[in-house]
Amino acid sequence: MPKDQLYRDPKDPVPPFEFNSKVADVFDDMIHRSVPMYAEIIRRQAAMIEKICDRGTRIYDLGCSTGNLAMTLCDRMPAGTFELIAVDTSQPMLDISQKRLAAIGRSGDVTHVNADIRRAAMAPAGVVVANFTLQFIPPADRDALLKKCRDFLVPGGILLFSEKTVHPDPDLSDLQVDFYHRFKRENGYSALEISQKREALENVLVPETVAVHQERLHRCGFPASDLWLKWFNFCSWICKR
Ligand SMILES: C[S@@+](CC[C@H](N)C(=O)[O-])C[C@H]1O[C@@H](n2cnc3c(N)ncnc32)[C@H](O)[C@@H]1O
Repeated sequence: MPKDQLYRDPKDPVPPFEFNSKVADVFDDMIHRSVPMYAEIIRRQAAMIEKICDRGTRIYDLGCSTGNLAMTLCDRMPAGTFELIAVDTSQPMLDISQKRLAAIGRSGDVTHVNADIRRAAMAPAGVVVANFTLQFIPPADRDALLKKCRDFLVPGGILLFSEKTVHPDPDLSDLQVDFYHRFKRENGYSALEISQKREALENVLVPETVAVHQERLHRCGFPASDLWLKWFNFCSWICKR
């Protein structure tokens, strides 16, 4: 796994974060060292999907990046038992995902689509997954996207999503940020790397509070949801259609 050193050297100015080929090349190292409990999230989501999926269930992965969910699903579920549609706007990310699936002989289970998830065509599905993707969509477009997910989920279907959130209380927000930066330091990122990445993500990754997410879920037609994993400001939900 190539090491993420994108913010090791000083940058002036720090350009806004983009999912370009440089990021795609180191993405797996970056996400494992930057998202607390990342492997746990993907592993448990794959288990939830396996539990609820009937043979042939269609699954969407919105903002699939390098295909970690696809790879984990392939590990758990035999070929031909699900149909995954992996959508992303970053072709370098999709290329890596395609290569990984080809290397394990599972290209037939996953269709890669280069499209903006706000406009991408969808078909009825049993599961929609969006891990750390909604936070990159302009807030004004988030309701429409969740309503679209809800409309294409079949009865009994689920939405699984994860987000970096922000706490409304300034002291608790500071505590979350402090513990998040400790986590990154423990994973080998320097203070310079942490601060430059933070600057790069300013106005690109727009987090919301847990309450704002939960209100949106109700508004967009998800009658019941469970915040099944929370690590300070990192949250994962399962939502019933
Ligand atoms: C943090 S990554 C998601 C990580 C991935 N879900 C995982 O679990 O490894 C966000 C991804 O969303 C994609 N993305 C951002 N905005 C998008 C949009 N409007 N439509 C499709 N993909 C988008 C980015 O290219 C990037 O690959």
